[in-house]
Amino acid sequence: MSGLDHDRRGATDSMRVLGISGSLRRDSFNTRLLEAAGSLLPAGAELTLWDGLKAVPPFSEDDEHRPPPAVQALRDAIAEADALLIATPEYNGSAPGQLKNALDWASRPRGACVLAGKPVAVTGASPTPFGAVRAQDQLRNALKLSGARPVERSVPVPRAPAQFAQSGGLADAQLGHDLRELLEELLAAASPGARWDDAQRASAA
Ligand SMILES: Cc1cc2nc3c(=O)[nH]c(=O)nc-3n(C[C@H](O)[C@H](O)[C@H](O)COP(=O)(O)O)c2cc1C
Repeated sequence: MSGLDHDRRGATDSMRVLGISGSLRRDSFNTRLLEAAGSLLPAGAELTLWDGLKAVPPFSEDDEHRPPPAVQALRDAIAEADALLIATPEYNGSAPGQLKNALDWASRPRGACVLAGKPVAVTGASPTPFGAVRAQDQLRNALKLSGARPVERSVPVPRAPAQFAQSGGLADAQLGHDLRELLEELLAAASPGARWDDAQRASAA
């Protein structure tokens, strides 16, 4: 969705949030985190999980104007979403290569990419006490450079195995509260009144 379409959105339209998990693991904590976040969204907003990450080939500038089908599908899904919610694992102090690779595809062609002006919230879970905070910081920075509008708030989820109840929901009320605040900020950024600031416009040009 372009900035213009974004401005035309009516107050009664529902808000479409695309959830992107950076993990390919079957029982991924980050995918579970997105599912839990989706259940916290208010009426009028819905989260769709994107499941095409494994099919995205390595980025090549030679192909950025003729993207492979899996990349086109990713770009279409981002374009159709009002906002993105990314949950990232941390591998060796960084965001996983497969997630960074997909976002690099989405960041091109420069000046006309689907990430331009897109509100994005980033969270992340890991079994360590740090909760993938370094990967989240890196991604927010890369998203800013791509012209997206990452919200400043971060929600690191440490000690991930203890954060989820057997039922699949969240075990910790504080985490639910923090995720709700993150989602509120994301939806506010995606609401009709929100505008790009000059710095974001310049970096997307
Ligand atoms: C190659 C590799 C490197 C890792 N490096 C880190 C790390 O730097 N920091 C961290 O908190 N966890 C690290 N971990 C542990 C992951 O946080 C853990 O596997 C986590 O469950 C992955 O997220 P997922 O459950 O969504 O798949 C690493 C795991 C792998 C496989």
